[in-house]
Amino acid sequence: MGNSVYRATLILGIGLLLSCSRKPPERYLLFTGSLSGYLEACSCPGTPEGGLNAAGYLAREFRKTHPDAILVDAGCFTPDTTDTLNAWFITRGMMAVGYDAVAVGSCDTQSTYARLWERLPALSEKRPWMAIRGVLLVRVIDQRAPDFAAAPKHDYLVFLSSVGREIDEELAKEHGPDAIIEARGEFQPFKVGKTLIVPSVPRGMALGVLKLGPGGADAWFIKVRPETPTDPDVDLVLEEYSKAYRAHIQRTATKLSFRGPGFCRFCHKEEYEAWKTSAHARGFETLVSEGKTDNPWCLTCHTTGFGKGGFVDPEKTPQLAGITCESCHPGGKCPDNPPPKGKLSDCRVCHTKDQSPDFREETYWQKIKH
Ligand code: HEC
Ligand code: HEC
Ligand code: HEC
Ligand code: HEC
Repeated sequence: MGNSVYRATLILGIGLLLSCSRKPPERYLLFTGSLSGYLEACSCPGTPEGGLNAAGYLAREFRKTHPDAILVDAGCFTPDTTDTLNAWFITRGMMAVGYDAVAVGSCDTQSTYARLWERLPALSEKRPWMAIRGVLLVRVIDQRAPDFAAAPKHDYLVFLSSVGREIDEELAKEHGPDAIIEARGEFQPFKVGKTLIVPSVPRGMALGVLKLGPGGADAWFIKVRPETPTDPDVDLVLEEYSKAYRAHIQRTATKLSFRGPGFCRFCHKEEYEAWKTSAHARGFETLVSEGKTDNPWCLTCHTTGFGKGGFVDPEKTPQLAGITCESCHPGGKCPDNPPPKGKLSDCRVCHTKDQSPDFREETYWQKIKH
């Protein structure tokens, strides 16, 4: 009898103690940012690993041990250049991975994409904040945070921002959220007051993990490695993307307007010899060894005129497999009306920061000079 009263008092005591100092539970927030339409990695030098299919795999694995982890994207998930088909399929891919919230960043606000957002759990102009499992997520795209005074009670406040680190610092001072996840940025996580400001690793090259606890926020990254598997659901979306792109090409392809280097060779023998031994001539073989000859995105840079009345497939247009003369000298009709001579500034159409981080006009031209 005495014993059970004692026990009851003890339980009551502990109960009281707990309710007085209720600490919010720890929360994990998984995040990406600046996916830029990368459903998969480009195996080119700049982004050898990554992509939504790999980052999505890492998120799914993490959630096996932490089913409550919240998956968010901080913004800039659509391609850098207007490409509605790509924007549509990256959206589909994110739905397949099961994002809880996707911030439409300052870089995603192409009006042509607006209808895509309706399919996602998007944080946008219409709905700038959302509360999930005690975490209030607020989308920030300029100096002024949206008004979230009407938001429900929450344990943690996290901004998903695409404004850049300087403005983030100001926002941290003004609102003091637990963390600000930046869609872009090349900096180490740092603190302003109690606010942790963390960048996202672009193109799905790593999955960010933000741990929110009563003692503060902490963040780290799980890197995609060459051996990281890919998410089968995203790979299905990728297959559909390839099919859709092909259908699109077949509809828009005009009459073949490229002649291939074999024709140019008749009169430009030296240029041809120089080109033949260059990496450009082998651009398609690279895709063969990567098993990516069906990926429309790779084809736009590794072949000639894909989607513009040029390369279709290696059977129909073997002469346009690879980066041939007309990739750099399009149009014209030699000898009467020669095509443009070619400008080094055009190299960057393909030699982007992502695909060719070491690109220098002078040194690269030396290797393909003709
Ligand atoms: C029948 C011969 C002939 C063929 C075939 C030919 N060219 Fe030419 N090309 C010429 C002649 C001639 C010139 C003019 C040279 C000059 O003005 O000094 C020229 C000039 C050029 C120039 C230099 C333009 C400039 O402003 O200096 C480029 C680039 C060029 N051709 C690319 C091509 C490409 C690409 C092909 C294949 C699609 C091709 N040519 C096929 C004969 C030919
Ligand atoms: C249509 C797209 C495209 C354009 C335009 C282009 N390149 Fe390339 N370039 C590629 C691709 C793709 C590769 C990789 C080929 C491979 O090995 O599969 C490449 C590879 C190279 C390489 C070999 C790199 C190495 O270290 O081995 C050099 C050099 C190069 N390009 C120079 C240039 C220069 C200079 C220009 C502009 C005058 C240029 N490229 C324009 C697509 C392009
Ligand atoms: C925006 C244009 C672009 C796209 C899209 C692109 N590549 Fe590339 N890729 C390049 C360029 C440019 C290089 C050469 C970079 C360098 O050497 O500086 C390259 C190089 C490579 C290389 C290294 C080749 C070598 O010989 O070392 C591989 C592999 C490759 N790309 C595969 C792919 C695959 C697979 C895809 C599609 C998933 C793809 N690329 C999409 C432009 C592109
Ligand atoms: C990767 C891009 C690229 C490819 C591929 C390429 N060229 Fe050029 N080409 C250039 C550039 C850039 C120049 C101008 C260089 C300069 O200003 O000195 C040029 C110059 C030329 C010229 C003018 C040369 C002169 O002395 O005025 C001719 C002709 C020519 N190319 C023909 C060809 C032919 C034929 C092929 C294919 C066998 C080819 N090019 C492939 C980029 C390319």
